[in-house]
Amino acid sequence: MAEKKIILTGDRPTGRLHIGHYVGSLRRRVELQNSGEYDKIFIMIADAQALTDNADNPEKVRQNIIEVALDYLSAGLDPEKSNLFIQSQISELTELTFFYNNLVTVQRLQRNPTVKAEIQMRGFNDDASADNKAGIPVGFFCYPISQAADITAFKATTVPVGDDQLPMIEQTREIVRRFNTTYAPVLVEPSALLPEGESCMRLPGTDGKAKMSKSLGNCIYLSDTSETVREKIRGMYTDPGHLQVSDPGKVEGNTVFTYLDAFCKPEHFEKFASCFVGKKVSFSFASLDEMKAQYRAGGLGDVMCKNFLYEILEDTLAPIRERRHKFEQDIPYVYEVLRKGSDAAREVAAQTLAEVKRAMKINYFEPGILDELIAEQSEKYR
Ligand code: TRP
Repeated sequence: MAEKKIILTGDRPTGRLHIGHYVGSLRRRVELQNSGEYDKIFIMIADAQALTDNADNPEKVRQNIIEVALDYLSAGLDPEKSNLFIQSQISELTELTFFYNNLVTVQRLQRNPTVKAEIQMRGFNDDASADNKAGIPVGFFCYPISQAADITAFKATTVPVGDDQLPMIEQTREIVRRFNTTYAPVLVEPSALLPEGESCMRLPGTDGKAKMSKSLGNCIYLSDTSETVREKIRGMYTDPGHLQVSDPGKVEGNTVFTYLDAFCKPEHFEKFASCFVGKKVSFSFASLDEMKAQYRAGGLGDVMCKNFLYEILEDTLAPIRERRHKFEQDIPYVYEVLRKGSDAAREVAAQTLAEVKRAMKINYFEPGILDELIAEQSEKYR
């Protein structure tokens, strides 16, 4: 029998999802879901992981569970095809984490580049300087191990994530190998599935900064109104050297073009051709390359480019927004999806945990095992 193809991925519920999440993972997940190529798909709201650096803010995490679930459903994740669940409700995951802790060194965790960067970002200094936040929480430091539990509990083969998550997948693979050689070949080594294209890998914020993040206020949310989207696009960072429309413009590092790289499809040029009809000049482009060439040559203004981007984003976001409004009116349904999904996920994780305990010889009271154990120990003392 060929190995089953199983997806597991998820998000921390610390805010609404934005278009960076969309091009970086959400859009892909929906495609994978609808491809029919996967035997099982698990999408997890990682509330326990969110608490590793929000221990003092449980209300924030609780509020954002429903926001993320609404974003999932409105983006097209279908509970009939994808199992949506809440991490903390699967206590088997914490048990697996505890056992995996023995297979990872502190030194190995210290080398994790994503954790290092996050420690910096959150001000978890471990030196005694004035503005430190009293060190690194152990739970936060160890979250790569808990993430390995998330992935392996479902025997996931495929983990669609952004490139910042690669160190977590590598850590997971190491734990799997270590476990399988030390105990028994129970766990499955997963592979990461990265977004296609540079622009989708890490969509910059509207201010051109490297990453969209709520604290920088540079996000376009899936749930933003069309007026808000228009406003945010109007204020977007472009090419600071492109002062006059007639000046040659730079496409590299120009956020409008990065977003176009991520969202624009060839058919958009026909559909939104009117964006390029102006009072003084008009253009007709057949492809993004043609549009870029004109921008580089000069004559194509930022306003036209931004209007075009707005139409494209609206084309994507309007149906999502509409579906969100429907789901917002049926909150009981959303929680029912999460509850059912969590129940189903628990069953799978419990199965893996039983195998793990068996491999680790800590299954004393499993049916059949106890009799064996009693016989063995009685023999010893006979
Ligand atoms: N670390 C992921 C994030 O930052 C969330 C996450 C938790 C996850 N467990 C996972 C992603 C397992 C993929 C697989 O959003």
